[in-house]
Amino acid sequence: MTMHGNLLRLPMLAVFLCARLAAAADGLPLTAPDYEQFTPAAAARMSEAARTNLSPVYPALAEYLVERFQLAHRAGVGVDVGGGPGSLTLELSRRTPRFYWINTDINTFHATAFFARALTLDCAGRVGMIFADAHHLPFRNDYADFVVSRGSIPFWAEPKTALAEIYRVLKPGGQAFIGRGFSPNLPLDVARRVRENQGSGVPRYDVAETMKSWQRLMLELGIKDFEIIHPREDQREVNYGVWLRFSKPSTHSP
Ligand SMILES: C[S@@+](CC[C@H](N)C(=O)[O-])C[C@H]1O[C@@H](n2cnc3c(N)ncnc32)[C@H](O)[C@@H]1O
Repeated sequence: MTMHGNLLRLPMLAVFLCARLAAAADGLPLTAPDYEQFTPAAAARMSEAARTNLSPVYPALAEYLVERFQLAHRAGVGVDVGGGPGSLTLELSRRTPRFYWINTDINTFHATAFFARALTLDCAGRVGMIFADAHHLPFRNDYADFVVSRGSIPFWAEPKTALAEIYRVLKPGGQAFIGRGFSPNLPLDVARRVRENQGSGVPRYDVAETMKSWQRLMLELGIKDFEIIHPREDQREVNYGVWLRFSKPSTHSP
């Protein structure tokens, strides 16, 4: 293997080792990357979509989250679950200079592109990436100030387990914002163009059914502070997706 080849594999190795160490430290089940299912080709396809058709989606979503949760001047740790190439992680990082963001994905082949792009956006010192299955997050309890996830929940075999993991990892007072699609601030003409370009790949699912199932999961998990958001629900022309916000209560000393 060439020197260049070795260098490219280093982030992958770091990703894998960090994940194993973190998981081992917390006594979580150790899982290993499934290189048969989560391939370089799958990572490349997602990267390409994120770089082209979906590219307007991430800055708008980051803008919305930073404003809504007042993240711009706060310090903290944020985790993106199933962040893929990390487009959202990086857009969030650019807007939150005091936050450290961790992009996580079950597909380790996103790591090289993620770190390369972080360098070009001047975020490299404030972001990381690790291998993580949403069902077994390699973080200790009460770790993250913010957990975000876009477009990954439809792929989770057991959403209830993964949402319980996210809740476990949230700090008291922390917020999670999980879902799929677009933020309400994405202009309608842009959203329409993204959906048109997706052609036969446009996600088809029952939004009302999804909202009902997430509500049920929140009740089953005993998560009291939650909200299900259907952006631009008044217009039917373009599906803006659906989001779930929940928080872990702050602990107050009397
Ligand atoms: C449609 S892509 C979305 C990527 C990114 N969040 C975005 O919006 O650009 C779905 C991502 O979820 C990841 N994924 C699928 N199953 C997962 C799991 N069990 N745990 C963590 N990530 C998972 C995939 O590898 C893929 O990168």
